[in-house]
Amino acid sequence: MTDDALIDGRGLRLVRGGRELLGGLDLHLTQGERLFVLGPSGAGKTTLLHALLGFVPFAAGSLSVFGQARSRERDFAPLRGPLGLLFQDAGDQLFGPTVAEDVAFGPLNLGASASDAAAIAATQLDRLGIARLADRPVQALSGGEQRLAALAGVLAMRPRVLLLDEPTNGLDAGATERLLAALAETGLSMIVASHDPVCVAALASRRIELRDATHAGC
Ligand SMILES: Nc1ncnc2c1ncn2[C@@H]1O[C@H](COP(=O)(O)OP(=O)(O)O)[C@@H](O)[C@H]1O
Ligand SMILES: [Mg+2]
Repeated sequence: MTDDALIDGRGLRLVRGGRELLGGLDLHLTQGERLFVLGPSGAGKTTLLHALLGFVPFAAGSLSVFGQARSRERDFAPLRGPLGLLFQDAGDQLFGPTVAEDVAFGPLNLGASASDAAAIAATQLDRLGIARLADRPVQALSGGEQRLAALAGVLAMRPRVLLLDEPTNGLDAGATERLLAALAETGLSMIVASHDPVCVAALASRRIELRDATHAGC
C-alpha cells in the first residue's frame, strides 16, 4: 500500500442472497481521487459502499482504510463519520425533525455542544445554499432539497472520504448542478456509484466497472 492510500481492498468478494456480486475486487482510493463505480442495476454498487462501512460483510479479501486493517465491527465503527455515506435514497438518511436538527445530530453525537452543533449545521446549510430550509420539517422537502440536506448532514461529520450512492438520481438539472458544484468544492476524495453522464463528466477522475472489476485490479 502506498502512503497516500485511503482505501486499499484486495480480493474483495461479496455474496448477496446466494449470488456472487464481487468475485475478487482490488479497490484502491488515493488522496484526491474521485473514483466512479459503474455497473448495471443490481451489480452490487450499493452493497459495495455499505460493505466498506461494515454494514455487509465481505466473504473474502482484505480491506485497509486509513492505513488500518478493517475486518471486525470494532474496526468499522470508527469509520462511520470519516467515511461519509450519502444514501441512495435521501429519505432513508434524514430523520429530522427539522433540517437544522437533522444536520446537527451528527456533530452532537460526536460530542459537540448544542450550540457548536447548531453552528456547524448552519455553516453546512449555508455552504450548500439551503440555509432557508433550516427550520423546515425534513418531510416537507423536495427530492433535490432532501439530497442537499442529507449531504449537509454528511459534511457536518467532517468526513475524510465521501461515499456517494447515485447522488444525482432523480434531481432536476438545477439541483444536479448545485449538488455537483458543492461536491467538487469539498475537495474530498470520493467513491461515487453513478451512471449519470453529467455526474461522471463533472467529477470522475477514474472509473471502474463492477462486471470487469471482478476479474481485474483497479
Ligand atoms: N438485503 C439484501 N438481501 C439479499 N440480497 C440483497 C439485499 N440487498 C441487495 N440485495 C441484492 O444484491 C444485489 C446487488 O444490489 P445493489 O448493491 O443494490 O446493486 P446496485 O446498487 O448496483 O443496483 C441485487 O441482486 C439485490 O437484489
Ligand atoms: Mg444501488
